[in-house]
Amino acid sequence: MEFDETKLREFYSEAPADVSLADIDLGRIPRHVSLIMDGNGRWAEARGLPRSEGHVAGVDSLRETVTTSVRLGIDVLSAYAFSTENWRRPQKEVDLLMHLFATTLLNELPLFYQENVQLRFLGDITSLPKATREVFEEGLQKTSSHTGMVFALAVNYGARAELARAARLIAEDVRAGRLDVGDVDESAVEQRLYTEGLPDPELLIRTSGELRLSNYLLWQLAYTEFYVTSKHWPDFDRWDMLRAIRAYQGRDRRFGGVAAS
Ligand code: IPE
Ligand code: IPE
Ligand code: MG
Repeated sequence: MEFDETKLREFYSEAPADVSLADIDLGRIPRHVSLIMDGNGRWAEARGLPRSEGHVAGVDSLRETVTTSVRLGIDVLSAYAFSTENWRRPQKEVDLLMHLFATTLLNELPLFYQENVQLRFLGDITSLPKATREVFEEGLQKTSSHTGMVFALAVNYGARAELARAARLIAEDVRAGRLDVGDVDESAVEQRLYTEGLPDPELLIRTSGELRLSNYLLWQLAYTEFYVTSKHWPDFDRWDMLRAIRAYQGRDRRFGGVAAS
């Protein structure tokens, strides 16, 4: 996607010692970067604060990462905010998160207008608490004509549930005579995922050090490069994004073939 180089250089002035914009090949920015935003609770606990403070602080990191991604000309930024397994958390924490999602989205809508960002959700948002669902629907509707970066937030998302849903949708289409069994191929599945129409992520970033997917984008991450940082999500900033992209650009992506010579 097009990006404004002056704005980009301004956003990335005052580089720390170990990384700068000059380390990045701006012609090879990944189209789709995905985030597993982990470690809010640990960040708060390390400061003697309640876990909720970590979630609140995490909002600032996400805002900065959205802006970073727009500045770099990334086409799609996706982020895992709440998994189908996160309902197992204490009710108080779940309530806080649902409230935080709604208030944050309302607060950040001006940024989406200013930067022409289109909002999408990955996951089943129909079963969220009414107040949260209504704000999400408003966000979808108000940004649907935006033509800039797509920001896809995964809420009540689980990859296994997503794949089971795709299988169900395919079965319904076959039963109704809209689809031949012989035409059930990879693209038939892709068209029925929440990420329909989006490119697969080239880069997945997970904060807080865990080396697992936690039921995230199992289909879409088949050939994605992983970057794991020990930093907790509220400490993740624009420079960490450059570090991740630099690492990505140093990888040899073979897709099952042999190394390019
Ligand atoms: C990520 O931080 C945010 C959500 C899953 C909602 P955590 O809340 O998982 O923080 P840790 O992993 O317990 O530190
Ligand atoms: C993954 O983090 C989900 C999100 C970041 C929303 P978790 O904290 O839920 O993952 P586990 O439990 O450590 O695998
Ligand atoms: Mg966690």
